[in-house]
Amino acid sequence: MNDKRMNNINVLLFLLFVLTLVSQGHAHYHVGKEKVTNIYFFFQENRKADPPTAVLVAKPKDTIVNATNILPYGATYVLNTPLTAEQDPNSEVVGQAQGLAASAGQNQSVVVFAVDYVFTSGKFKDSSVSVLSSYRILEPITELTVVGGRGKFRMASGYAIVRTIYRNITSAIVIVEYNVTVFHYE
Ligand SMILES: *[C@@H]1O[C@H](CO)[C@@H](O)[C@H](O)[C@H]1NC(C)=O
Ligand SMILES: *[C@@H]1O[C@H](CO)[C@@H](O)[C@H](O)[C@H]1NC(C)=O
Ligand SMILES: *[C@@H]1O[C@H](CO)[C@@H](O)[C@H](O)[C@H]1NC(C)=O
Ligand SMILES: *[C@@H]1O[C@H](CO)[C@@H](O)[C@H](O)[C@H]1NC(C)=O
Repeated sequence: MNDKRMNNINVLLFLLFVLTLVSQGHAHYHVGKEKVTNIYFFFQENRKADPPTAVLVAKPKDTIVNATNILPYGATYVLNTPLTAEQDPNSEVVGQAQGLAASAGQNQSVVVFAVDYVFTSGKFKDSSVSVLSSYRILEPITELTVVGGRGKFRMASGYAIVRTIYRNITSAIVIVEYNVTVFHYE
């Protein structure tokens, strides 16, 4: 065996050693006790507010988006929507929903929601939960998937039961009740 080959084998052995260390490190990652937290708030959509809580950023060519047809297949919105403690839009703002909503149903109003819910006050201040889920927009009650979070909700999973409690096409206001169940670690 020549020196060059010997060197290559040494490099391989060294890499294996490093990989072993890395995987052991991962196995020893410490998490606290699992706990369950309920978060309850209201999502205050107002597309006629200044600035609007959701803006259309893309749509298929030749597809019309208007007040009575806001979610044709392919319509994509960026949203920054206040979250309040009570149903009243003027009640205390406890957070902001920020993300993307894309209409992904060919024949039904199904929106894919990739949204971060960041809490800005109260005991969850500066923590967030992330949702990545399809959302059947016309169902009175639907379920969204919580896929992660930050701060207190690091490595979270869970679900949100969401209920549309007010919808007004003329004023472009929609109020949605969220009851989020989060599984996370202490
Ligand atoms: C909105 O667009 C749809 C689909 O093109 C159309 O049928 C409807 O009349 C439009 N409504 C308004 C208020 O313009
Ligand atoms: C939507 O409807 C069209 C026309 O009826 C049909 O060809 C298509 O397969 C439907 N798409 C889905 C996903 O059901
Ligand atoms: C919807 O909004 C319009 C415009 O703000 C208002 O005149 C109307 O009363 C509202 N309808 C309902 C059912 O709240
Ligand atoms: C939220 O959901 C939890 C778990 O399903 C339930 O125990 C709780 O009563 C709900 N809260 C509200 C305000 O609906």
